[in-house]
Amino acid sequence: MKSTISLSSPSALQTEALVAVVLDHSEPRANASDKKPQLKLATADSALQSAAADLLSSGELSGKLLETNLLHKPTGLQAKRLLLVSGGNAEKFSSYELRRVTGAAVRTLKSRGIRRFAFVAPSDMGAEEAVRAIVEGAHVGNFDPDYYRSDRKDQKVEELAVVTTDDQKSLESVAREAQIIGESQNFTRDLVNEPSNRMTPTILAERAKQMCAEVGLTCEVYGPDKIKELKMGAFWSVAQGSDEPPALIVMRYEPAAAPAKPVLGLVGKGITFDTGGISIKPADGMEKMKYDMAGGATMIGVMRAVALLKPKVKVIGIVCATENMPSGKAQKPGDVQIAMSGKSIEVINTDAEGRLVLADGLHYAKQLGCTHLVDAATLTGAVVVALGYNNAGIFTNNDNMYDRIHRANEKAGEKMWRLPVDDEYKEQIRSSIADIMNTGGRWGGAITAAMFLKEFAEDTPWIHLDIAGTAWMEEQKPWIAKGPSGIAVRSLVEFVKSFAA
Ligand code: BES
Ligand code: MN
Ligand code: ZN
Repeated sequence: MKSTISLSSPSALQTEALVAVVLDHSEPRANASDKKPQLKLATADSALQSAAADLLSSGELSGKLLETNLLHKPTGLQAKRLLLVSGGNAEKFSSYELRRVTGAAVRTLKSRGIRRFAFVAPSDMGAEEAVRAIVEGAHVGNFDPDYYRSDRKDQKVEELAVVTTDDQKSLESVAREAQIIGESQNFTRDLVNEPSNRMTPTILAERAKQMCAEVGLTCEVYGPDKIKELKMGAFWSVAQGSDEPPALIVMRYEPAAAPAKPVLGLVGKGITFDTGGISIKPADGMEKMKYDMAGGATMIGVMRAVALLKPKVKVIGIVCATENMPSGKAQKPGDVQIAMSGKSIEVINTDAEGRLVLADGLHYAKQLGCTHLVDAATLTGAVVVALGYNNAGIFTNNDNMYDRIHRANEKAGEKMWRLPVDDEYKEQIRSSIADIMNTGGRWGGAITAAMFLKEFAEDTPWIHLDIAGTAWMEEQKPWIAKGPSGIAVRSLVEFVKSFAA
């Protein structure tokens, strides 16, 4: 979607649709049932205000977040349509809500076949923050996972003009950056959406290579021989059961202008299908395990954005891609594996495979010189029990890293919540015959999975993001389609930028 800045007066704009934000200025009260909303447009433009005046004062609207109304031939405007989307309570309205408002506007318009529109930036928010949220939110709304439907409407909005009165040069570059980030998030969502027969480790590696060639990154892909040569016993133990060869994908962004340190290592879980292996999963819902490579796809999307945004910091992206299959060659519960770091692992449950591939991915990242590590993985069902679908889990051995990712979350409008990785939990993964085991029992499953990874990050500052509950939208929302969400791409781009010299 082409995103531009327009300084025209909203009433003079000739467009298919003009979108404006409605805010409720009534006092938030405890007893909300008899509350009358006080609705106003978030703009100082008087022509726009009068076009919406009758509807806003009609008493027909609730003013609740994402309520939408479409007016044709709005009085006094050149636009063919005026779409009003509510941002909810004025005091609570932030760029977080604005992203959803824009997403909802795009989804309303695209389903009606409208390809071009203009969005009036709300007046009571900084222009840069607003432009960024509008462009990113529009990209989120523009994605639909209907690629394989022969009746797909193929409706994508093609052009967005953000209308602002703020005559800053910087806004053009803010819009450009937000477009890169939005496109990269959708790139990730496209990868995650593919079913496992069309997204094998080999295909994922090909897609990464192709992307890297397009944006000027170096990309190396290693197969079974190199994985064994590197002594990645944990990664290989998962890969050995599948007929599809695994792929170790290494993407490098090393700009000449960046200092030697830090070197950020972004490690993604790339299980292109997780059957559970010999500890096989129940049939019910197993089809969803095609999204078990979402962490890997996240890192590929982040590398794409980083290559185009060019921050002055070195970044290496690593994806450990394999299927997790049962077969005569598959590892069995009780097997002991030696990880690349030399640690021995008793594999209690072959379905706890994500931590095995990441163990070697994290160690390899350190060996390549990474000074800071981040991994993203659909790692545990337990994180969904703990945090539900609305927050990804953050686990880290370093408070400074937490501060960075938390600030990145706020800027990017993504929700994540920290869970502990205290030493006490380590007891749960102690093995009687090896250094550690790959499951930690029933309680605190997201934490014990993180404790396992922490053994491989060791003293290197490290963040683990468990995106099992957030990488896939279980149902559609007004602002986003059902399916892959692209969670963590925006935050990690922001996180990388926070290190730029
Ligand atoms: N890929 C799954 C985790 C998952 C669950 C992702 C639900 C998305 C939605 C992971 O490999 C897994 O199977 N984890 C096990 C770990 C257990 C065996 C210790 C789990 O969470 O049940
Ligand atoms: Mn599993
Ligand atoms: Zn898995």
